[in-house]
Amino acid sequence: MIKKLFAAVMFTALVFFVTAQNKLTLRSPNGNLSFAFWLNDAGTAMYSLDYKSKAVVLPSTLGIDLLNTFDNKPLPSLASGLTLLRSANMGSDTWWKPVWGEVKMIRDNYKALLVTLTSGGDKPIRMTLTFKLFDDGLGFQYAFPDQPNMTHFIVQNEHTTFRLAGDHKAFWLPGDYDSNEFNPNTSLLSEVDAADGKYAGEIYAKTFFDKNAVQTPLMLKSNDGLYINIHEAALVNYPAMNLILDKRNFTLSSALVPDALGNKAYLQTPCKTPWRTIIVSDKATDIPASKTILNLNDPSVIKNTSWIKPTKYVGVWWEMHVGKASWDYGIPDSSHPGVLKPHGKHGANTANVKRYIDFAALHGFDGVLVEGWNVGWEDWFGRYKENVFDFVTPYPDFDVKLLQRYAAAKKVKLIMHHETSASVTNYERHMDTAYRFMKAHGYDAVKTGYVGRIIPRGEHHDGQWMVNHYLRVAKKTADYQIMLDAHEPVRPTGLSRTYPNWLACEAARGMEFNAWSKGNKPDHETIFPFTRFMGGPMDYTPGIFELKMSTWDPMKKETIHTTLAKQLALYVTIYSPLQMAADLPGSYEKRLDAFQFIKDVAVDWDDSKYLEAEPGDYITVARKAKGKANWFLGAITDENPRSTTLSLDFLDAGKKYMATIYSDAPDAHYENNPGAYVITKKMVTSKESLTLQLAAGGGAAVSFVPVK
Ligand code: NOJ
Ligand code: CA
Repeated sequence: MIKKLFAAVMFTALVFFVTAQNKLTLRSPNGNLSFAFWLNDAGTAMYSLDYKSKAVVLPSTLGIDLLNTFDNKPLPSLASGLTLLRSANMGSDTWWKPVWGEVKMIRDNYKALLVTLTSGGDKPIRMTLTFKLFDDGLGFQYAFPDQPNMTHFIVQNEHTTFRLAGDHKAFWLPGDYDSNEFNPNTSLLSEVDAADGKYAGEIYAKTFFDKNAVQTPLMLKSNDGLYINIHEAALVNYPAMNLILDKRNFTLSSALVPDALGNKAYLQTPCKTPWRTIIVSDKATDIPASKTILNLNDPSVIKNTSWIKPTKYVGVWWEMHVGKASWDYGIPDSSHPGVLKPHGKHGANTANVKRYIDFAALHGFDGVLVEGWNVGWEDWFGRYKENVFDFVTPYPDFDVKLLQRYAAAKKVKLIMHHETSASVTNYERHMDTAYRFMKAHGYDAVKTGYVGRIIPRGEHHDGQWMVNHYLRVAKKTADYQIMLDAHEPVRPTGLSRTYPNWLACEAARGMEFNAWSKGNKPDHETIFPFTRFMGGPMDYTPGIFELKMSTWDPMKKETIHTTLAKQLALYVTIYSPLQMAADLPGSYEKRLDAFQFIKDVAVDWDDSKYLEAEPGDYITVARKAKGKANWFLGAITDENPRSTTLSLDFLDAGKKYMATIYSDAPDAHYENNPGAYVITKKMVTSKESLTLQLAAGGGAAVSFVPVK
């Protein structure tokens, strides 16, 4: 039952005859944040935000340029010359229960201000702005109500700006219309240089557009100790927002992803934009713990959610990325047109999939992902190939019916894979048939993928058309009671609250890069909780135990920039209701003692505590398993070794726990000795503390099991 502390909504609808001097203000429920809105002398909407009297956003502009769809001419300006028609204050304090999540209940507590503004001109148009001020941040949204002088319109540009108070340290990805799989960069704002050449090579479909552009979620740290995160919530029917930095005054301006015509969004009244979010605290741990982005999304539209299940899975996957197996079944046979000559390396063959099903059943996994099962992989890669996959035709060595029976008998779910090769028109044509095929063969989860240049040609991964496509997939899969994991989609913005079948997204540089590029840096996963994860869970695919690439190819010298214990810790530091044990069964069978942590760790939680963190350096998280008394802890560090002593006061008072501690061996090091770990056991209570030693690039994982 949803516990409602109290809910109070108060409207004071007042008609204002404001002058430019009148500021409308808000204070957050605990008083830490102060917000002001006003119109400046030019009639431009302005806002500012302070945290405990420190400036977070200095006076910054709001506004939007619209075009008439009829003649493509500008509609009256909403960027200046505005008049305030009315404003209203509102407050709300409620609790809600997520279908799955980091905590059992979420508090949604804010003060709000709604303003209605009108343009000048003889055919004026209207917009409303809603500002919601939480204890850890601000969300604001533009809306366009029904009105006589505007129905269909085009968004040409948004003038949302964030004028920061100084040259903050920034954790940034280069602005792009198609990819978020770049390595994160850390620099002062004044040193941001997103020049294209630096990012060439590793990323196939990318559309760089400005050397001063960065993506959201953008994480910032000020000299005076403020942690600031800028992102968006509820990205629906609108393009994603990049930010262009003006280094002279540290102002970030919204840069929306365009379509081929340069337009940003096609809208129809009544409608609203996504929320722009600024999350702020003087404690780093408050940023990943924030629920503001979820709170700005609508409640679940799926009424019966009993079929939605957080999932731990293995899969026919890493073996393709490391080159041991291939997605495709064979090569075209020149003497028999249309026939493939098997090359013997096909990963998704029935015998191999059975092996994964056996392994999953033996070790208690929910699912087995199989990639490369369907016809098309023999010629899928490259620009703009329209009809590659039909999503229902298996390769000759993949026996759909047999595997359906085999998996069902072993109580394991097969997870479907739909690589679209970014031919989204083709996917849209096949979606219903593909989902019916899934349901007929016992699949209730799908991993989608969008590798390559988008068809419709000229559209981008992060533009309005694709944003709508990802949501169509989420809705349609929900109609079929299918859970969704989207790879290469737009970055998430909390929509899994509204569509909880949308368990996870990739939308960032995942584990796969460690298999075939220069890899992810040792600080990668210490930055993630402050950037990518602000919008929602990621299918990062942790759990790699064979850390030397020479295991798979003697010519390869690379090691993954992590220790084995850190791979275990990621199951706790990364929040996701969908977690893969990504390595091959054989890699785990050689180290069953360490594998035990992956088997035990939960994927759904009643509570989560961010114990300590510094973006780019380290993070330590403790979580309590859903409906159980077990706790799990993960601690990771960057390239520097680290010792930390943690109070165990998060454990339930009065209980005794057996702690199993999976740590780096004393001589472990992410470069020259990544696989060295030790496992120790210890009885503990909430009154004690625990000291963990993390190797360079290392981590530690702990499970706490109550003992009677
Ligand atoms: C990229 C995805 O991120 C990866 O997980 C998948 O294996 C390949 N595309 C092939 O679809
Ligand atoms: Ca990817």
